[in-house]
Amino acid sequence: MPQVDSIRQDVDELMPGLVADRRHLHEHPELGFQEFETAAFVKDRLEQLGVEDIRTGIGVTGVTGLITGTKPGSAKNILVRADMDALPIHEENQVEYKSQNPGVMHACGHDAHTAILLGLARYLSDHKDDFSGTVKLCFQPAEELPPGGAQAMIKEGVLNDPPIEAVFGLHMANNDPVGKIIVGSGPVMAAADGYTITIHGKGGHGAYPHGCIDPVAIGAQIVVALQSIVSRNVDPMDAAVVSNCVFQSGEAFNVIPDTAVLKGTVRTFKLETRDLMEERITKVATDIAEAMGATVTVDYVRGYPPTINDEAMTELAREAGAAAVGAENVISRPPAMGAEDFSYFLEEKPGSYFFVGSKNEEKGFIWGHHHPKFDIDEESMGHGLTAMAMGVLTYLERE
Ligand code: NI
Repeated sequence: MPQVDSIRQDVDELMPGLVADRRHLHEHPELGFQEFETAAFVKDRLEQLGVEDIRTGIGVTGVTGLITGTKPGSAKNILVRADMDALPIHEENQVEYKSQNPGVMHACGHDAHTAILLGLARYLSDHKDDFSGTVKLCFQPAEELPPGGAQAMIKEGVLNDPPIEAVFGLHMANNDPVGKIIVGSGPVMAAADGYTITIHGKGGHGAYPHGCIDPVAIGAQIVVALQSIVSRNVDPMDAAVVSNCVFQSGEAFNVIPDTAVLKGTVRTFKLETRDLMEERITKVATDIAEAMGATVTVDYVRGYPPTINDEAMTELAREAGAAAVGAENVISRPPAMGAEDFSYFLEEKPGSYFFVGSKNEEKGFIWGHHHPKFDIDEESMGHGLTAMAMGVLTYLERE
């Protein structure tokens, strides 16, 4: 196994560079599929490091590069991915590296992910004689903007040339303290689907409902009935969520409107549960509306699939995490209902997506992801880079 002490020492030396890169990216956030300056910054860095086969404009703004080790041995190919996009949020932090792009903010830590992958590029470039095989660096656009950048990059062949055999990715975690690394085998994040139900009734005077077909009353029944899908149709040992988050209808207090629109999000971990939710939501909405004399259109859109980690790759991530922060600081995490488009990479190749604690109450880094005061303890980047370098080198070294 690679020597974690020497990796850590090198990472400590790289840390000022990581912090500078992350702060630069934080000051200049860009929304999904608009990461042009970010991609140019990444390309510049990779060129400075002598990274081979740098390609840009993949899935609009994605960037890739290759680093091949010179140590004799097996020749495996692994891809490491970082997402580059920011969010449409106006930053409320008063820090010197505050966003200079009003209304746009790195409020999820993707600036840190990009800086860590640049740090990995630097580390691997400096240590080519310590490994054999090839690492593909993958800087991905638009994780926050479904259908997302992962799918776009995969369609453009990011997993070929050279043929990729395994994938790693990481995410900052502001709900976990700095110094912790969180791993999980199997599903770690959910599939995220959405629906729009449009109820077509018949409007009229609020005082004369018998002459109308009231889409509001029907919509109310549908919202309640949708909740019974999770409680009555889904296996109690499985997990699912349906949250109806939009109910739009009507303008005046005494007018029954013609239509009502319901919109919601659906989260699942298993394909069969995902199919069941789509089928039941469509049936419940359609049949309730029909029973009450209305018609309905149901538009069900599948978003990101569940993020499912490979067992062997997760064991490797766990070992790498333990080497980086100590076995006692590696936490096994039950799956969460958020979603992530790294899932598309994991549909294609075995891999693991792990989380790096970045919260620090003493330093005031307490705000959750997507909050206008979100900020991370930058120490976490050192832990993330050490674990990632350790994981990648161990993967390449093992038969
Ligand atoms: Ni994120």
